[in-house]
Amino acid sequence: MNNPLKLGIAGLGTVGTGLLHIFQKNSEKINLASGRPIKVAAVSARNRNKDRGLALSHYEWFDDPVKMAEDPSIDVFVELIGGEEGVARSSVEAALNAKKHVVTANKALLAVHGVALSGLAEKNDVALNFEAAIAGGIPVVKTMRESLQGNTITRVYGILNGTCNYILTKMEREGQAYDEALKDAQDAGFAEVDPTFDVGGFDAAHKLSLLTSLAFGTEISFENIYIEGISSISPIDIEVATDLGYRIKLLGVAVQTEDGIEQRVHPTMVPFGSAIAEVNGVTNCVNIEGNFVGDVTLVGAGAGAGPTASSVMADIIDVARGVIFPPFVVPTNQLVAYKRARMRQHEGRYYIRLSVYDRPGAFAAIANRMAEQEISLESIVQRGSEVGQVHQGNQNTPQSSFESPIPVILITHKTCENFIRKALEGIEADGNIASRPQMIRIENL
Ligand code: HSE
Repeated sequence: MNNPLKLGIAGLGTVGTGLLHIFQKNSEKINLASGRPIKVAAVSARNRNKDRGLALSHYEWFDDPVKMAEDPSIDVFVELIGGEEGVARSSVEAALNAKKHVVTANKALLAVHGVALSGLAEKNDVALNFEAAIAGGIPVVKTMRESLQGNTITRVYGILNGTCNYILTKMEREGQAYDEALKDAQDAGFAEVDPTFDVGGFDAAHKLSLLTSLAFGTEISFENIYIEGISSISPIDIEVATDLGYRIKLLGVAVQTEDGIEQRVHPTMVPFGSAIAEVNGVTNCVNIEGNFVGDVTLVGAGAGAGPTASSVMADIIDVARGVIFPPFVVPTNQLVAYKRARMRQHEGRYYIRLSVYDRPGAFAAIANRMAEQEISLESIVQRGSEVGQVHQGNQNTPQSSFESPIPVILITHKTCENFIRKALEGIEADGNIASRPQMIRIENL
């Protein structure tokens, strides 16, 4: 019988306990697939006495995950603590330095320190596996690291945050306002009490930074991602999108351009019927474009105990089989420096919603600002007065309660983001709008 592979699991929250459940249920099959027994030797968590519905008495307990990471009783350190610094970082570094394989679900840690940790893993000839860090249960890392290596990847994009997708789906299906849908997500356990990380787009950006590196062989560059969250999306945006045949999704997109790599996370209008538009609720989706394979779309659960632990398990089985890849496909010292394509150079169609004071000349001034930037409009939709009456009077009349703002929606033909931003600056300066313009990019994916 081959030697057992001994694990130390740090962090016994949702994913850690999910992993122990997989062992309880499937260990015979897992051992067979691995070619050797896999044993949980030790565990570490913040609170030893918390009721997790599982007996921990068979495992050695460590209060300090760093000590566990260095302990000779383990071969693989499974980091499920989370966070880019603190004990997650120090314990992973300790494990790699002690020549232990590391399996982690920690996207924040890798987004910020991934290149250094990858180098450390290579130096010590051990694995640094992170399937669970991107889109939970979707096997996207393996797909990119292994199955698509015959291709040059041209673009990767996806719905990388289930919380945002749940909120946007609720807003569309139930006509809820953003705050109401967020509250629902929190009540259902899909959103944190402080939801900033998810709804602000940062969680999706962490995942995108890793996808970019896997796709293009570049150093991870989280700080160069353009990020917009979903909190400015209003029911009227959803309604108009529906009327026009689009659904609004928070997308993460990384694309190779002539100027460098564009990495962006923002709400996007995608046409009904496209694969990505049909991914709803907490489900995630990743689409990879390869120059020979074409489009590969992976859809599945992006979070939760079972799906995330399933990915962690796959990484552990690889280690048990002796399969060790460079963490980001190519040796760390051959990852190329990331060159950023400026978001201002982004080209596409745009949805713009303006809250326009109903006064003579206001439309003309807006059209003028668009024309100055040579932006061609595909359609203009006026949704009727938001409140009150239509004001009859002189354009220079000061704003008054008679001037009811009216939602005006412009859809542009393909143009450059720089021109859009300049036009919107001009429109704001003209003083004919009651609030900041809303701008949503349209993608025909
Ligand atoms: N909070 C994430 C989501 C899952 O809502 O998709 C973990 O990254």
